[in-house]
Amino acid sequence: MTTTASAHNLLTDNPELYETRFPDPERLAGRWTEDCLRRHGAGPRVLDMGCGTGRDAARLHAAGRRVTGADLSEAMLAHARVHHPGPEYVRADLHGFDLGRGVYDAVVCLDSALLYCHTNDQLDGFLASCRRALSPGGLLVAEMRNGAYFLGRTDLLDAPAVHTFVWQGVRYRSTTTLTVDRTAQLLRRTRVWTSDGGREPVEQRSAWRLLFPQELRHLLGAHGFEVLELHDGPGPRTEPAWHEGLEPGRTTDADRLHVVARLAGAAPAP
Ligand SMILES: C[S@@+](CC[C@H](N)C(=O)[O-])C[C@H]1O[C@@H](n2cnc3c(N)ncnc32)[C@H](O)[C@@H]1O
Repeated sequence: MTTTASAHNLLTDNPELYETRFPDPERLAGRWTEDCLRRHGAGPRVLDMGCGTGRDAARLHAAGRRVTGADLSEAMLAHARVHHPGPEYVRADLHGFDLGRGVYDAVVCLDSALLYCHTNDQLDGFLASCRRALSPGGLLVAEMRNGAYFLGRTDLLDAPAVHTFVWQGVRYRSTTTLTVDRTAQLLRRTRVWTSDGGREPVEQRSAWRLLFPQELRHLLGAHGFEVLELHDGPGPRTEPAWHEGLEPGRTTDADRLHVVARLAGAAPAP
């Protein structure tokens, strides 16, 4: 069988497919984020970095916030403007962005978008950009994979994960293999897509930074943030999932990591 390697990402190139593969009909991620923002008294201006299809940005907009959604993928932004209107959508790179100084009360970064910062320089670039964008006392809310989960556990690495679903009448099958690159501190993903439409299989590779809770705490402190919450759930992608009324946990052992941090109350960084 021939496999075509692709530099594109089938999911971010096809936002409808993304929402089909990763449905969130109850807008749990947006509701969880709004709950964090309220609990810590965030003001109304929110930047959603790595906003993807825009569904979380639109949920925050519906909750009364003034939202900017930012992403690197033009396809995602185009989809968001049509299907999840309300927020303003702009193209920006989370490795380093300048959308104004002190103009947001919160930056949110959901579903591991932060882990597309692979290197220390990219993480520093992201946090320095957040610091510039936030007003004094502004919040950073992020939700992602937990690097610490992979210490001593191999259940997600032992066998490929296979998912099948139907989109626009075509059955798709994705086979995802995860490997740990200890030197780069990355979780590398190889995903092979097949469909019953007769197309050649497509192989796509991507990676997430394996970020550890105490490393994240240290990085946030170095960039002027005080950590208010750092825990493994409940959250929008935990099992069982978060619902309104549940308090944040205290452990960082399971496979998702949730962080809420506040920028110190000084003037925004130069
Ligand atoms: C896993 S999706 C998450 C989307 C959305 N936050 C959600 O929770 O549904 C990751 C998103 O990050 C975006 N992304 C990847 N690298 C990026 C970068 N360097 N700057 C901005 N966005 C990026 C992708 O285009 C994609 O939309």
